Amino acid sequence: MLYFETIANPTMKVSPVAPLVELAKEHELILVCDNTFASPAVMRPLEWGVDLVIESASKFIGGHNDVIGGAICMKSEQLADDFLEQIRWSTMVKWGAPLSPFNAWLLLRGIQTLEVRLQRQCQTASALADFLAGHDKVSQVWYPGHASHPQHELAAAQMDSPGAMLTFAVADSESALKVADSLELAAFGASLGGVRTTVQIPATMAFLDISSQERLEMGILDGMVRISTGLEDPEDLIADFAAALTGI
Ligand SMILES: Cc1ncc(COP(=O)(O)O)c(C=O)c1O
Repeated sequence: MLYFETIANPTMKVSPVAPLVELAKEHELILVCDNTFASPAVMRPLEWGVDLVIESASKFIGGHNDVIGGAICMKSEQLADDFLEQIRWSTMVKWGAPLSPFNAWLLLRGIQTLEVRLQRQCQTASALADFLAGHDKVSQVWYPGHASHPQHELAAAQMDSPGAMLTFAVADSESALKVADSLELAAFGASLGGVRTTVQIPATMAFLDISSQERLEMGILDGMVRISTGLEDPEDLIADFAAALTGI
């Protein structure tokens, strides 16, 4: 099995899907992709030949950070026709992990606005990336839609839009914490993909259990702040980040 993320957390590295499909075919591997950071409104890996796509529906698909759910999608000649049925049987039936009817209803309601939410969220992420890239307290911005992103052209070629996730770095973890704590409109929290902008500090939250050396090798800096852009007014959001950055 070969497993990748379309947009990686939190470095926003974009995986080149076509070469990965070729590589997996060459070595007869099942190609699996976590498409959560992009969402199906931004990238549809099955259309590129990926065998299995995993989506955390708790994020952009639900869109309101009020439900836990997920999706596994397949269109593969490499897997048995009843592969998803086997997963349903062995996880949902045997382990008892099905969605409750209310959570299923929340997801069905959320998915109806997925495309329009993402259009607006991507526009705002782009405006925020431009603002942060020009700020003197910000050392770097990672957003696939920004010209400074190393895979900017690849992102444009394989994604409908650059997504609503971006990361920026300030000097160190104390400064990152101060920025995240000072935001008033954006919320400081681990989740992503909702209508409210959230920020998270990768080095001291999701990647805390990894040594600082390994984090550096993965490109995760102590001063990174990851943003999931929501549906707030873009100018209000930029003003919120501007105010938070003046405090460091
Ligand atoms: C990229 C990615 N995939 C999957 C998950 C798991 O999602 P869930 O909370 O729905 O289990 C997360 C959670 O943060 C995530 O960031």
